[in-house]
Amino acid sequence: MIPELGVNIDHVATVRQARRTFEPDPVWAAAAAELGGADSITIHLREDRRHIQDRDLRVLRDTVTAKLNLELAAVDEIVAIACQTRPDQATLVPERREEVTTEGGLDVITQRQDVAAAVGRLREAGIAVSLFLDPDERQIATAAELGVQAVELHTGQYALARGTRVAEELTRLAVAGRQVRQLGLTLHAGHGLTYHNVQPVAALAGMHELNIGHSIIARALLVGMQQAVREMKNLLILAGQK
Ligand code: PXP
Repeated sequence: MIPELGVNIDHVATVRQARRTFEPDPVWAAAAAELGGADSITIHLREDRRHIQDRDLRVLRDTVTAKLNLELAAVDEIVAIACQTRPDQATLVPERREEVTTEGGLDVITQRQDVAAAVGRLREAGIAVSLFLDPDERQIATAAELGVQAVELHTGQYALARGTRVAEELTRLAVAGRQVRQLGLTLHAGHGLTYHNVQPVAALAGMHELNIGHSIIARALLVGMQQAVREMKNLLILAGQK
């Protein structure tokens, strides 16, 4: 099974927001990602709007021809926006204002009521729902009771692991992935995946979708740097020749 690639373009919006300007536009980045073969475009509309803006979601809803996957917290305001905008898929994630990035999976046991309410509203709006969870048996079992389509396993601990712990974390993901599929749910994974560590996760049985952001955007910045500088340099050369 070849997993689908979801490209998370939040960091493009982060660069734009650093200057509160119009570039780089995540809408252009989504088009480029689709041209490169992305099967879905993933964005996270955070409560603090630190990167993706409401306008981005609206325009991307109109322009993305691959699947649009919206990450969101189970809070009223953002769930309402999701229900209005109707991305193809919503991935519920935990969110804390102080965090640099999503730090762990959702706790669907202690937050069952809020998560169940959000899942109900999103499902009613016709949106497929995925829950971002640590590879934990009890969390996955609870998720299956909530009527979601998919579970995205948090690969952050695997990505951070070194030495013998890499194999241990991969085994945790494999066991959790088997449970997800046995419960009839679609298996997704993501967070911290890079060009070096992605393949063992991509090869896990039944892996349907991987969501990758930081590493792809970081590489795009560097593989595109030479051409961007050359184009600016050419403008200076042309101006100097006038
Ligand atoms: N999946 C989820 C649920 C996430 O929150 C993130 C980060 O926004 C990713 C995948 C992508 O993680 P990374 O940027 O480390 O590839």
